Amino acid sequence: MINKLKICSGFLALVLIGCTSKSDIIIDDFESGTYNKWTVEGDAFGATPAKGSYAGQQTVEDFEGQYLANSFNGSDDSRGTLISKEFTIERYYINFLIGGGQNQDTYIELVINNKSVYKSRSIIETEKLQWMSWDVKKYIGQKAIIRIVDNQRGAWGHILVDQIEQSNTEKSIFMVDYELGFEADKKYILVPIDDDSPESVIKLGVDGKTIGVPMNIRVAQSEKIGYWIPIDIEKYKGKKVTLTFANVRKTDKHLNDIKQSDIFNFDYDETYRPLYHHTPLYGWMNDPNGMVYLDGEYHLFFQYNPYGSKWSNIHWGHSVSKDLKKWEYLPVALAPDSLGSIFSGSAVIDKNNTAGFGKNAMVAIFTSAGKIQTQSLAYSTDKGRTFTKYDHNPVLTDPNIVDFRDPKVFWHDNTGQWVMSLATSQTITFYGSKNLKEWNKLSEFGEGIGSHEGVWECPDLLPLTYKGKTKWILFVSINPGGINGGSATQYFIGDFDGKTFKADNLDYPLWLDYGRDNYAGVTWNNVPAKDGRHLFIGWMNNWDYANSVPSINFSSANTIVRELKLVHNGKHLIVANPPIAEMAELRRNNVKIENKQVDKTYSIEKLLNDNQGAYEVEFLVKPKEVKNFEFKLANQKGENVRFIFDLKNNTLSIDRAKSGLVDFSNNFAPALINAPLVTKNSYKIRLFVDKASTELFVNDGELVQTNLVFPTEPYNSLTFDTDGETIDIEDINIYNLK
Ligand code: FRU
Repeated sequence: MINKLKICSGFLALVLIGCTSKSDIIIDDFESGTYNKWTVEGDAFGATPAKGSYAGQQTVEDFEGQYLANSFNGSDDSRGTLISKEFTIERYYINFLIGGGQNQDTYIELVINNKSVYKSRSIIETEKLQWMSWDVKKYIGQKAIIRIVDNQRGAWGHILVDQIEQSNTEKSIFMVDYELGFEADKKYILVPIDDDSPESVIKLGVDGKTIGVPMNIRVAQSEKIGYWIPIDIEKYKGKKVTLTFANVRKTDKHLNDIKQSDIFNFDYDETYRPLYHHTPLYGWMNDPNGMVYLDGEYHLFFQYNPYGSKWSNIHWGHSVSKDLKKWEYLPVALAPDSLGSIFSGSAVIDKNNTAGFGKNAMVAIFTSAGKIQTQSLAYSTDKGRTFTKYDHNPVLTDPNIVDFRDPKVFWHDNTGQWVMSLATSQTITFYGSKNLKEWNKLSEFGEGIGSHEGVWECPDLLPLTYKGKTKWILFVSINPGGINGGSATQYFIGDFDGKTFKADNLDYPLWLDYGRDNYAGVTWNNVPAKDGRHLFIGWMNNWDYANSVPSINFSSANTIVRELKLVHNGKHLIVANPPIAEMAELRRNNVKIENKQVDKTYSIEKLLNDNQGAYEVEFLVKPKEVKNFEFKLANQKGENVRFIFDLKNNTLSIDRAKSGLVDFSNNFAPALINAPLVTKNSYKIRLFVDKASTELFVNDGELVQTNLVFPTEPYNSLTFDTDGETIDIEDINIYNLK
């Protein structure tokens, strides 16, 4: 490893002796109580410097004297800029105290010859100011100005600055643009991560050229290393690879542990890594994306952060499966670029080469999430192994709509064109295109119908048939505002004529899954006609707590694959989502239990001998009267999940308050998770458990609840309780699943 700073520091020390004595030059300490030295734009910084905090702000600390520049004037939403008078650079460093938000659009910058040469923001969200320094030796004698910018609304949309001075002594506890260099001769650079460390920004350089866009990263700073992430450098062998950190602290412990390696095979204690659900190998995952079938492979792309296990730096990760049960990991498919992160979207197979990327090209249509959200294309002619971004991205923009994302595209045969469903704030807008490149608006749906308590996201429009009749189903994920809080997926049943979706008159909102942990799910495109199924997968998490669930190294799993079916619930049509038939092929070691009539309580004390926490429980319940009954999964420690059938009030509730670890978020287990239950003579139950998840299917997926749980040892008993009524339990089977 070549550590530039280390090599230079001895030499610099010699040069600097004798120079450091020159006195500091104050650019501004704001102690005049005025902005006389600045041009003030906007209202964020107030008419004069602030005396500490503003009303509604946490206490501002560690500034000097009485005044500082504080852009919280009014609130986080106020915006504005301070521009200094021109000055000459006469010392080696510009030191200043800084605090406030970490956002892209709150920063202090040094401008020389109209060029921004340094742009810095607080490296953690804090109201405590800390010293930061810019090394300006190479600009000595030149004219400069400083701009302090707050162009950010919302949480932490402010900046704090004080005591800006020129000095020959560097006061910073940070190192700005700290560079680590490697002569690349291995496959990876491994970086130690700790999710509790503050975020810095890294840039990858190869032979002096920057590759891609900067990424946020939480390099382990104190003793603790959470896990390691690999940066793939195989293709740069023999070249000089650099990692440049926008800001690190001199006290950071693990910067020197960053190393090259040919292997990346850490073994962590991943208690909550499921055995038969799709998860990312490492890093953060949210929505499933771009699901498409091609030549024997089901592709599953997903929202992915390969630099850590919190939401950030969104790429498209990639997996494939031949059977929808076992998944193989493939390299990242799409990385952020100058248009932004790669948010959710879909993929199609362009059989007739309408876009000109090649016959049968796999074309991904996704949201570029930068300053604004726009829709972009990328294509692959090697079965999704590599993608090329379209030269003329973006292909669809509307700067007036802030939440403008998640394109789901399919080929509409009757009108001979591609149709895109796009989430547009609180509606879904449909667009049509002959070539995937030029889109025109067809119609807009959603005003005054369904749930509008949150942003509409991740739509999907697909036909399902019931008794030979085709109905069109529109899925809309909503966050927050889900039936049981936070994120959930609602749907509409109606007709689509190639232009307009018209919803049937039903009692909306209808929910696909009443549990708290099935979000942003959509269906596979291009499933072979001989199969003909509509295959669905969802992200098994909820934005209410997704970034705090207990997990190490990786975060989140997808649901098992489900088949969408239109069925009648006795009142009206609904969309059922039972497990795909293939799930039965995962069954091992069937434990069969005798039928039982229960009139009070009955326990199966030991579900499985070798219980790894990954199994399916199946049975049929026949209540004799319309009262209540429940069943409960529990472990030796008393941790349990209860499934409560309240037949009087037609409700199925799940109680995970004592399910294991619940304290990681106030929002995880405060209340019962309720679903409306249509009274039937019998309830066929299939319950899939996989380490940290429970997926309950009642009567072939007519009623579904997916909920995460974090037991500290597997649940290994099943207890039935009734309110004194008699229930028959039949066909009880327990299967280990693998
Ligand atoms: C839904 C969502 C999408 C967006 C993506 C970003 O969970 O908010 O609307 O494209 O996540 O990761």
